[in-house]
Amino acid sequence: MDVTFKIRRRNPDVPDQQKPYWQEFTLNEVEPTDRVLELLHRIKWEQDGSLSLRRSCAHGVCGSDAMRINGVNRLACKILVRDLGEKIQVEPILGLPVIKDLIVDMQPFFDHYKQVMPFFVNDEPLPADGRERLQTQSDREQFDDSTKCILCACCTTACPSFWANEQYVGPAAIVQAHRFIFDTRDQAGAERLDVLGEPNGVWRCRTIFNCTPACPRDIEVTKAIGEVKLAIRKGATSGIIQPDAIH
Ligand code: SF4
Ligand code: F3S
Ligand code: FES
Repeated sequence: MDVTFKIRRRNPDVPDQQKPYWQEFTLNEVEPTDRVLELLHRIKWEQDGSLSLRRSCAHGVCGSDAMRINGVNRLACKILVRDLGEKIQVEPILGLPVIKDLIVDMQPFFDHYKQVMPFFVNDEPLPADGRERLQTQSDREQFDDSTKCILCACCTTACPSFWANEQYVGPAAIVQAHRFIFDTRDQAGAERLDVLGEPNGVWRCRTIFNCTPACPRDIEVTKAIGEVKLAIRKGATSGIIQPDAIH
């Protein structure tokens, strides 16, 4: 089959390409099972070597090729042509500065990620037998879903609250915080809840729900955010979080 790609492009180094514009490419002999990433490679290798995109693993693991494809955030390496049809529109993800073509500046995204202390904190010595810190199966299940995050930014850049206010930490950072807040072995949950109780934390989430269907790992993002909101409310009533931080 023939497939027409309409790609949103921008090149800050070329004077008449500094403003975003659309460019069309047609590919022949496309198989329905071809992935969008392969076809973007074909365009780059066969038609226009200047087309710029970010990718690494090509197998849905690294999270580097998030794009807006036919109006929906997806990983280009996971979506097949048969699920899109003969006309495919590709744009950079929204809400982050475009560097070139499909490549956005991920620094603001990772700045929010760092805000929530996305690492295990426990300064107590290991048990005397030198074995790992144990937890029950049900304890582990509390944060199992949020361990699946690959930091692709599909959720955060699908969120209208983030589009409206780039200071909002965004759903991805909250999912990462969730992974540690609900880990019984971690000791920095209250600090993370303090960060997320600030005005640009979880309360910027208006439960719009765009983030959950955008997640290529099928993480229940909105549910995780709801659990963090509840933890802050409980913390507020027990004096861990200042109630003023909640509005
Ligand atoms: Fe990507 Fe899902 Fe993680 Fe959001 S929660 S960054 S969509 S993997
Ligand atoms: Fe945004 Fe998801 Fe909340 S789309 S408003 S973070 S439920
Ligand atoms: Fe790694 Fe798509 S290239 S997730």
